[in-house]
Amino acid sequence: MIVLGVESSCDETSVALVRDGKEVLSNVVYSQIDTHRIFGGVVPEVASREHVRKVTYVFEEALKEANITPKEVDLVAVTTTPGLIGSLLVGINAAKAFALAHNKPCVDVNHIIGHIYANYIESDFAFPALALVVSGGHTELVLMKDHYQFQVLGQTLDDAVGEAYDKVGRVMGLDYPAGVFVDRLAQTGESSYKLPLVYLDKEGYNFSFSGLKSAVLNIINKAKMKGEAINKENLASSFQESVVTVLVDKTIHAAIEYNVKQIVVAGGVAANQGLRKGLTKAVGEIDNLKLTFPKMRYCTDNAAMIAVAGYFKFVLKTI
Ligand code: KG4
Ligand code: ZN
Repeated sequence: MIVLGVESSCDETSVALVRDGKEVLSNVVYSQIDTHRIFGGVVPEVASREHVRKVTYVFEEALKEANITPKEVDLVAVTTTPGLIGSLLVGINAAKAFALAHNKPCVDVNHIIGHIYANYIESDFAFPALALVVSGGHTELVLMKDHYQFQVLGQTLDDAVGEAYDKVGRVMGLDYPAGVFVDRLAQTGESSYKLPLVYLDKEGYNFSFSGLKSAVLNIINKAKMKGEAINKENLASSFQESVVTVLVDKTIHAAIEYNVKQIVVAGGVAANQGLRKGLTKAVGEIDNLKLTFPKMRYCTDNAAMIAVAGYFKFVLKTI
């Protein structure tokens, strides 16, 4: 079964062709980052217009690269929520027009579920599974008893992890989106600044990152006022350690409580090297627990993950 996936929820226009929810035949991603960088964040109106400019071209490229004709497509899957409404509408209209013109079924896909299913490209899922979702807009622990069954165990009460990374990085003077640059700095520094570890309720699965973010911003502002230098590498490293420690502790706690067979990590921050190392080490100490991360190119927004999620949604509905 060949699924054509479409993603346009934020600042990436992407179309992919995926066979049987697994084999990525093409995954064309047009990133608007260079356009938004000068504004220090995504400008919704600009994003919608960029999607309009690129969407047809991205469709054509994806089909060409996969060597697939529209006739050979069995299903269209498109992100419908969450995201910027103007951006989403461009992808939805393009996907629906394609489906209508070629008489194909079209399923709607939740972007976060897409991020979770990016892991399926790497490995089949062993249930019950636990998804740690860490993106620019979401931070959640989600229990999956089976395909397409989701129970949110906890989520952030304020900033998402990626959002905290981007804000901390911006104040450090790093380029947008700053998460990856904070991660790189962190790898060359030492955790020498004292920062809070925010667990809220130690037994619970909710998160909070705005206090930690403010603590970092305070250190930077105070140093500026006093004319003192900041060791950016060490500050990035301290911030990363606080984030990773809480994420790993809560994920492992949930994995044990719900006796899961697999942990899947989803969203842009799944690319974070500190998180990859921290979780790999913690999971290594537990018997019969599998850990998967998507390949780096499937961590951030892409249509391949939407095609995979759409495949499962469609197949489960129709069997
Ligand atoms: O999942 P994603 O592409 O978009 C949303 O659905 O939100 O995630 C983007 C987020 C941004 O905040 C970006 O800074 C962050 O993921 N990110 C990282 C890293 N790579 C991307 N954060 C920390 N370390 C990284 N290596
Ligand atoms: Zn995303």
